[in-house]
Amino acid sequence: NKHLLSVDDLSTDDVAELFATATEMHDVQRRAVKKLPALRGRTVINLFFEDSTRTRSSFEIAGKWLSADTINITGKGSSASKGESLRDTVLTICAMGVDALVVRHGASGAARAISGWVDASVVNAGDGTHEHPTQALLDAYTLTRHLGGLEGRRVVLVGDLTHSRVFRSNVALLTRLGADVCVVAPPTLMPAGITAWAAADGFATSWDLDAELPRADAVMMLRVQRERMSGGFFPTAREYAVSYGLTRDRLAVLRDGVPVLHPGPMNRGLEISADAADAASSLVLDQVSAGVAVRMSVLYHLLAGEEPA
Ligand code: CP
Repeated sequence: NKHLLSVDDLSTDDVAELFATATEMHDVQRRAVKKLPALRGRTVINLFFEDSTRTRSSFEIAGKWLSADTINITGKGSSASKGESLRDTVLTICAMGVDALVVRHGASGAARAISGWVDASVVNAGDGTHEHPTQALLDAYTLTRHLGGLEGRRVVLVGDLTHSRVFRSNVALLTRLGADVCVVAPPTLMPAGITAWAAADGFATSWDLDAELPRADAVMMLRVQRERMSGGFFPTAREYAVSYGLTRDRLAVLRDGVPVLHPGPMNRGLEISADAADAASSLVLDQVSAGVAVRMSVLYHLLAGEEPA
């Protein structure tokens, strides 16, 4: 594949290959040898029009550890703030000689639009409420390593599904890899049309977190994205934490060793308590660590066989 815009761009064989390479990269990451020469001479631009801590820095580290030249451009510090269009911005950057653009943008479909304008490979690092494919890959990779496989495992995704690109990419990838996925949200944060979508794609939906937790093999809490809620937040933060937060009491309901995940950034005290975020069963930092390995794998597979720009 030239681009990674959606998890739908990947076959299950592609995912297996990406995970195998990520495991090798993870081993590199753990040992003294930190740098591989695989992408020497390649240029990777991180073009972020929305804020990021994990995705942007892990793509930068991933590129650097593969010996690519990596540069970060953000919306705030670029000429986009003077009114330059997205198309002019990416054409300008690519005219300098770029092999890959890693793009985060607030508009759903932005990465796909960019892929039609440039010769460089484009990686979607989050587009609006649409998709975040490398997050889903690193989540599935973390779960696969921890559980020993996903086939038949009950993975419960909980949170603000309406605004979550992580949910959209995860539900597509996890179901494809054989997980038994259940998504939980209050009715006001369930996306429109989810009943038909769930029936077509083979996942379950629920409004009742307490009914779902006792039989979960893994629980992934998703962030309440107040910045995307123009019409206010209903339920209130307090109501949400009481009914949908992974509190200390709910943590105790999980079977022994059931892992807790969160893609970050976490709203502690809202969707996840400090007890859950910092529990021995929390994989939150394993996800971050896997993010570097998985993004190394993605960049390697997109660029290693290609002629430099
Ligand atoms: N999970 C995630 O995308 O985090 P950042 O917004 O910090 O990149």
